[in-house]
Amino acid sequence: MNKTPIDYQKVSKAINQSNIPDLGLATIREIVRLVNMLEEETGEKYIRMEMGVPGIKPPDVGTLAEIEALTNGVAAIYPMLDGIPSIKEETSKFVKNFMNIDVSPVGCVPTVGSMQGGYATFMLVSNLDPKKDTALFIDPGFSVQKTQFKVMGHKYAHFDVYNYRGAKLRAKLEEFVSKGNINSIIYSNPNNPSWICFTEEELKIIGDIANKYDLIVLEDLAYFAMDFRNDLSKPGEPPYQPTVANYTNNYILLISSSKAFSNAGQRIGMLCISNTLYCREYPNLLERFGIASLGYVLIQRLIYSFSSGVCHSAQFGLAAMFKAANEGKFNFVESVREYGEKAAIMKRIFIENGFNLVYDKDIDQELADGFYFTISYPGMQSGELIKNLLYYGISAIGLITCGSDRTEGLRACVSQVKRTQFPDLEKRVKQFNQDFNTGKE
Ligand SMILES: Cc1ncc(COP(=O)(O)O)c(C=O)c1O
Repeated sequence: MNKTPIDYQKVSKAINQSNIPDLGLATIREIVRLVNMLEEETGEKYIRMEMGVPGIKPPDVGTLAEIEALTNGVAAIYPMLDGIPSIKEETSKFVKNFMNIDVSPVGCVPTVGSMQGGYATFMLVSNLDPKKDTALFIDPGFSVQKTQFKVMGHKYAHFDVYNYRGAKLRAKLEEFVSKGNINSIIYSNPNNPSWICFTEEELKIIGDIANKYDLIVLEDLAYFAMDFRNDLSKPGEPPYQPTVANYTNNYILLISSSKAFSNAGQRIGMLCISNTLYCREYPNLLERFGIASLGYVLIQRLIYSFSSGVCHSAQFGLAAMFKAANEGKFNFVESVREYGEKAAIMKRIFIENGFNLVYDKDIDQELADGFYFTISYPGMQSGELIKNLLYYGISAIGLITCGSDRTEGLRACVSQVKRTQFPDLEKRVKQFNQDFNTGKE
């Protein structure tokens, strides 16, 4: 074998010292820590694909609105729990303009990132009906959401959708929900980590099931409008961001500002609770929280007790970005299209050098190029592949940690990789393939 691009001894030492028994099962933050150490020890820059940190400058329209709000003194004042009026209004308009759905401003509620939106809604759905004590994840998914369930001590079930796309999804969902213990269905669309996007047929199936079994769909739109195959950027014009809301009224949407608006540091996202669910009353909520209405409990009990609302100035910033998008003055999709363009190039580099895409199709359509893609290398399980790639200056996480059955797969995130690193990426992946495919035809 040739000399590896990164010093072999140093990489081996760092991996041993990390005390991670199987890198395929390591968390994102464990890999981040290990690669930080490797970069420090070796002085080499890695192609870092392990963590989804937005790599794009936040839009000025948000930053300026936030500065103005701070200058006006909002930092001294507790924000209302359910959000400032402008963010509620603009979010309601935003979902009308870009999804073509009607959610009253009352049901549009800011949270401390979609992380908190998830935590609050997971807690809510787990407390609606004692018989329905289990949430259902359509995986692969965002692993920390399962950590949230573990932290709360609530139950969840999951399955990998890889073999159940299209019409097959119905029977698979029925298999779980017909037991009578499922309270909700959770998924992200576009999907972290695989970047699959559900088709209208699949969203209809999910909506039908929610109606039939009276379940709540928690649709996580952390990558809103980032299926770049279709131009979803024009307010009030189709095509729109696809959504289960077209097929059921039992939905809560989680709209993060972190990726689509490059706003991760401000920790703000929006919950959009359907008009039907917002007012719906549950005897179990009355017993547990003293109030029966879902929307009221979410805001006045859960959000109140978690953080008493969301950073005041961040609300002004996001409201301004939504307003500019609603008025057609700021094309937020265009500002993040770079991720898709980088993904197309990076995918090509891997595929030309012996790698395969793991999740590679939306039924009969090629997958979109976006924030993430998934790769494998013949004959290697994910832990071994992550380890081997570290000697070649490349880092990623294993799909097993995302609830995927594809034990050979890795998630690659494009956001932190700079275009100037592409020549290095190509050189390293090429050498990797030369070193590892010896003996194969
Ligand atoms: C699918 C998914 N949901 C939720 C989040 C969390 O978003 P936020 O940064 O708004 O808390 C992320 C962030 O990576 C994500 O990928």
